Amino acid sequence: MEFRAAFIGTGRVAWTLGDAFVDVGYFIHFASNRTEEPLKKFAEEFMVDEISTNIKDISKFASKFQVCIIAVPDSAIKEVADTLAGLPLNFKTTLFMHLSGSKTSAELASLKKMGAMTGSFHIPQSFPSRKAIRLWDLPVCIEASSVKAEKMMLQFAKRLKLKPICIKPELKIYYHLAAVFASNFFPVIIADSMKMFEKAGGKEKDYFKIFTPIIATTIQNIIENGPENSVSGVISRKDFGTLQEHLNALSYDGSSQEQLLTYIRLSEETAKMLGINLKIVPNKTEEEGK
Ligand SMILES: NC(=O)c1ccc[n+]([C@@H]2O[C@H](COP(=O)([O-])OP(=O)(O)OC[C@H]3O[C@@H](n4cnc5c(N)ncnc54)[C@H](OP(=O)(O)O)[C@@H]3O)[C@@H](O)[C@H]2O)c1
Repeated sequence: MEFRAAFIGTGRVAWTLGDAFVDVGYFIHFASNRTEEPLKKFAEEFMVDEISTNIKDISKFASKFQVCIIAVPDSAIKEVADTLAGLPLNFKTTLFMHLSGSKTSAELASLKKMGAMTGSFHIPQSFPSRKAIRLWDLPVCIEASSVKAEKMMLQFAKRLKLKPICIKPELKIYYHLAAVFASNFFPVIIADSMKMFEKAGGKEKDYFKIFTPIIATTIQNIIENGPENSVSGVISRKDFGTLQEHLNALSYDGSSQEQLLTYIRLSEETAKMLGINLKIVPNKTEEEGK
């Protein structure tokens, strides 16, 4: 099936999707954005037929598109959906989808009520700017409010050469938590590592020269062997003497309280993952039951 699309919002992800659309031979018939300048640039780049800064103008072109991509910030999705639901559109033959990782198709309830196919289409990748990123082979999480909508989104993903997984609406929050654990906290651990390096007299500019190999190898090991087979170091060796020295150093002058708490929590979690019953008590850390 050939898709003709309408885009609401011409920001970072819209640029990548627009690029992918044109690449596979789809057409963008209509685009809307509140600010004119980025809308015009988007239209020029992707040969969009009709544009308007007034979202309501979409109704003039209702018969010209089969998919409407709501590419606005998460906080604006419901408001945009409610506005669209109040317009004379071809709801029964149109798929409306947003691009959020945390929100579900429930944000588009007003459109579903009008008989539209609805869903969310989340590409777990970072789109830091309007520079288009190549989508081929990237995963996409599809969550739809009906079998018909899911089928259409799968066709759509296949044509864009994305690798889809389908998630039930009520379970999507766990998918989003998986993404948060996969990426959001990792930079915090590296920031703590950098602080320790500075305490050791190291210079920030040297950090990645020294630690890039161990960071990269750890990530590669996790991908290839799973997290439980990628732990090396103090806890896996049950080296509680060194662990105690770490605790002493982190407690020493009170300047590393946050890192101390992180260290304790992560040490206990690491031990649990390795099947070691570790209890951390100041000055007396040992394997429980010994
Ligand atoms: N960026 C990422 O890394 C990333 C990754 C995966 C998924 N996503 C998801 O993709 C969606 C879009 O994110 P984005 O990063 O592309 O956002 P963005 O770059 O901030 O672009 C959002 C666009 O929506 C327009 N907009 C903002 N508020 C609006 C409103 N109330 N009504 C109508 N239009 C509005 C903005 O322009 P005007 O203000 O001029 O209207 C802008 O063109 C979000 O659901 C986000 O969670 C983002």
